[in-house]
Amino acid sequence: MTQQARARLVLGNWKMHGSLAENELLLAALRAADTNSSSQIGVCVPFPYMAQAAQALQGSAVSWGAQDVSAHEKGAYTGEVSAAMLKDFACRWVLAGHSERRAYHGETDQTVADKARAALQSGLTPVVCVGETLNEHEAGQTLAVIRRQLTPVLALGADAVARMVLAYEPIWAIGSGRSATPEQAQDVHAAIRAELAALGTPQVQVLYGGSVKAANAASLFAMADIDGALVGGAALVAEEFLRIAAA
Ligand code: 13P
Repeated sequence: MTQQARARLVLGNWKMHGSLAENELLLAALRAADTNSSSQIGVCVPFPYMAQAAQALQGSAVSWGAQDVSAHEKGAYTGEVSAAMLKDFACRWVLAGHSERRAYHGETDQTVADKARAALQSGLTPVVCVGETLNEHEAGQTLAVIRRQLTPVLALGADAVARMVLAYEPIWAIGSGRSATPEQAQDVHAAIRAELAALGTPQVQVLYGGSVKAANAASLFAMADIDGALVGGAALVAEEFLRIAAA
């Protein structure tokens, strides 16, 4: 399948940043953005600001989502947020298995798959994140790690996977200012695409994340299997984020 058959998607991950006042300015600038951008655009905001994002962005070309979701439907899970709750705020996206969740909150490959399934059950689109550490990268284990992370996700089956987005985020490139080169990223994306093709879902969008900026977005997007970006720091500056989307 050619890249042209897959829409370009640029998602912002605000991580634990923002305030009502700051968000108001950022959301207003995104809302005012040119809707003719060649990319679909979305922002994944902290839970307390979901209602603010929904109100500010409804009717605009920009969609919104969350950065995590419970694997459970409901019940005695203090502090967790269910997929159905996110759906109440017309959320479209939910990140599953961001490396910061895996590293600091003990999320396993299976937990990530369970979260993706919970998101799908409520009609949200999970954005399943995978990526290797610097040590794994230098040891030449990148593809083995990605395959291991994807195994329980792909085991959800083609019908489920067809309704997901995947994101390759090498951990060594996150917040480091050192993006993977387009060729490095493409190699991994091609391997992910091969796994998707084997499942019968080659059309699934695969985003790249890790120090994406306006200055490097176009060269990343020129790669055959890179369908867009998951953007951290640069998503907090409207002009920079929109320049990435327009790249
Ligand atoms: P940076 O763009 O800040 O490197 O973050 C990437 C990321 O983790 C997005 O989920």
